[in-house]
Amino acid sequence: MWENSWLAYLVTGLLLVITCLVFVNFYVYSYWKRHGLIQAKTSFPWGSLGDFVLSKKCIHEVYEEIYKQGDGHPVIGYYSFFTPALVVRDPDLLKSILVRNYDSFSERGVYSNRAIDPLSHHLFSSPGDQHRKMRHVLSPSFSDNKMRYMFETMQACSTKLGEHLCSLVPRGAEGTTLKIKEITNNYGLNVIASTAVGIDHNSFEKENPLADAALKVTDPDDLMQGLRFILSFVSPKIAKFFNMRFTPKGVSDFYIDMVDKIVNYRKSHNVVRKDFMQVLLNLNEEIEKSKESDGREPLSLDEMASQTFLFILAGHETTSASLCFLLYELAVDQEMQQKLYDEIKSVDGDITYETIKELEYMDMIFNEMLRKYPAAPVLIRLCVKDFILPNGFLIRKGTQVMIPVYALQKDPKYFPQPDKFEPERFSKRAPIHEIVPFSFIPFGEGPRYCIGKRFGIASVKLGLIHILSKFKVLPASDTKIPLEIEKKTFVLNPYKDLTLKLVARDT
Ligand code: HEM
Repeated sequence: MWENSWLAYLVTGLLLVITCLVFVNFYVYSYWKRHGLIQAKTSFPWGSLGDFVLSKKCIHEVYEEIYKQGDGHPVIGYYSFFTPALVVRDPDLLKSILVRNYDSFSERGVYSNRAIDPLSHHLFSSPGDQHRKMRHVLSPSFSDNKMRYMFETMQACSTKLGEHLCSLVPRGAEGTTLKIKEITNNYGLNVIASTAVGIDHNSFEKENPLADAALKVTDPDDLMQGLRFILSFVSPKIAKFFNMRFTPKGVSDFYIDMVDKIVNYRKSHNVVRKDFMQVLLNLNEEIEKSKESDGREPLSLDEMASQTFLFILAGHETTSASLCFLLYELAVDQEMQQKLYDEIKSVDGDITYETIKELEYMDMIFNEMLRKYPAAPVLIRLCVKDFILPNGFLIRKGTQVMIPVYALQKDPKYFPQPDKFEPERFSKRAPIHEIVPFSFIPFGEGPRYCIGKRFGIASVKLGLIHILSKFKVLPASDTKIPLEIEKKTFVLNPYKDLTLKLVARDT
């Protein structure tokens, strides 16, 4: 009797699993086919993202494969677990989605939960209208003028970077092999933390609780945080179903408390600093004064905390990875390094925000680095209003649309010999080929393009200038050539243990 019911349960269970598999494979995973669109390969239950979710491949490789499967088509369908989504392949169409028809794609649709996780509600995750208002408030903090104002703080960090390296690399022809990512990570964090909230943990040796907090959010080895990342970006519906938080509670409590202390200290001691926090405090003062006439509300403590925390998250890893990629490419091409060094030497006197912009060869190398290694390998948009493509295909409201930046920038159709590092592609005088509009978008485009672009460019170039003017950079005996890419991170990063050799210059 008991054995019979046990068998019945087993058979029913098996039948359910088989029905579910058949339903998903033949119905769910044929959605795009049924709608007349080419679609990427799938596997149950990951849809087209299995290799990334199972850490077999990096996110840029997975989207590049989808991109390649759509060869000859402007758009290809794929499945994010069970949800149909799109990859847009055509630069012209990208322009339409990111800029011309922004009102149909004005959100990213990534998960945030303001009620239990105030730090997750910020510019990056906010929906269309809220985003427009927030961006309007925050944009002036990133103007050329504000960059000049904060440049002094950036300079202090890069000087410290140079001094730290001098302490590690004694004079002598043999040089010193360094784990370069640890150094660029510290620099990326120092420069953004000092300019975001004025935290002067500007040290490469001391313990840094702010660094620990930021790293806990992006730690590639933390399984739980990895899952939160994947669900927030790739399957926000599942994240919402579980009422999930994105920021670990300890990190959130620590950061909001720290911002509270900073704000109170500045107000009670009349302290003024050259950082984003000050820009936000000044803005609040201005809003308070005109509150009655224009009805604007000052930013709350949680809002100040979430925006500055976003700057730290969006800024530190992108800055650090970019600097690391540059150092690697310069190490493996000594001729290019010498040419850049000569250009840096040709600038007389102090490096200023203006002089950095004038370094033409530096700019070409920087752009080529962003082409080969875009920090954000895919951009994300959500269709918020039905949209009809020029070929008549309807993108329905609620569809996630991915923009495969890495795949586009590695497509030989737009960048011949894409694996070759060739700064001359970006020469203003004699480019070796045309750059098709919207085939090169490392900072995104349209109203949601990177607000920290100027800041990121200036801090990476400044760090590089301070390193190259004191040291020659070479591959170490154990540097992996060609470069390996870290598998688990969302921001494109070199492998964790990348080493390079620094040799002090006779200056
Ligand atoms: C080399 C460095 C950097 C690169 C390559 C980079 C790249 C990007 C990209 C691709 C996006 C998405 C754009 C889109 O969806 O169209 C983005 C957004 C953003 N980035 Fe950056 N970024 C860099 C540095 C920074 C820095 C230093 C900060 C802060 C100070 C920052 C703050 C942001 C913010 C707040 C957003 C969201 C903008 C919005 O939704 O309105 N980024 N960044």
